[in-house]
Amino acid sequence: MTVLGAPAHRELPATARQSVPEPAVVAVRDLSVAYGENAVLTGVDLDLFGGEMVALLGASGSGKSTLMKSLTGFAPITGGSAVVDGHELRGLRGRELRAVRAGVGQVFQQFNLIPRLSVLTNVLAGCLHRTGPVSALGHFPAKERRRALELLDRVGIAHKAQDPARSLSGGQQQRVAIARALMQQPRVLLADEPVASLDPRLADSVLGLLRDIAVGDGIPVLVSLHVVDLALVHSDRVVGLRDGRVILSGRPGELDTARLLELYSDEEDPDVDDL
Ligand SMILES: Nc1ncnc2c1ncn2[C@@H]1O[C@H](COP(=O)(O)OP(=O)(O)O)[C@@H](O)[C@H]1O
Ligand SMILES: [Mg+2]
Repeated sequence: MTVLGAPAHRELPATARQSVPEPAVVAVRDLSVAYGENAVLTGVDLDLFGGEMVALLGASGSGKSTLMKSLTGFAPITGGSAVVDGHELRGLRGRELRAVRAGVGQVFQQFNLIPRLSVLTNVLAGCLHRTGPVSALGHFPAKERRRALELLDRVGIAHKAQDPARSLSGGQQQRVAIARALMQQPRVLLADEPVASLDPRLADSVLGLLRDIAVGDGIPVLVSLHVVDLALVHSDRVVGLRDGRVILSGRPGELDTARLLELYSDEEDPDVDDL
């Protein structure tokens, strides 16, 4: 098939031909995580590259949150390795572990803002690891305040900067949480079910924003989702977990529906059987 307007054999520019592939920002190899006798992840491999949005799919309890926790040293790794920005997380403790965590931005389903504090202060909380403890009343360095305002502008809610976080809608609160994560100047962004509490229109816009960040900042964004269609529309790659193992991985266009439904085939949801 030819594509109108596209030359049949386009020469790559010299710089692209000579460029060395970027190393993965996150490299997980044969990773196992267990809580006591309970194996939660087994033999998981995952690479995340700068600029890509990767959707993590899987039924409830399949290990999505645990995989994300293993990338911040909050899950008990029992085998294999998890490397983030060149640092092996297995066995890492203390100051080194805190340094790796500072480079991992996180966004959660429930936003996790401090409701009574202003939107701006919530965003500034993302740089506390750089500034050290400061007054919640706002004695942040001017440079950080400027950056926080720029980020609020980028996520489209600069006009709410002085409002208490609790006064914002769910979609706006998630944008604040994303701005706070960016305040860390993260090397990778992990978003655990970031749109599970949002209606479909807001879910689309928040996922669009996350993908813009992946592309614009050249960082990987790993986003767990429970709506397959959202993963297919908004991601560059889908990784599917079942019972703590990766059972599928590929670009949205390469995945067939039967394989995707295998992820959920034990769930007691009659809608899934009807599909
Ligand atoms: N702190 C914990 N202690 C014991 N078991 C846990 C803990 N956290 C998660 N699990 C278990 O790990 C499995 C995967 O959980 P989770 O990663 O939260 O799945 P998902 O995010 O895909 O719903 C579940 O069986 C859960 O009960
Ligand atoms: Mg979860």
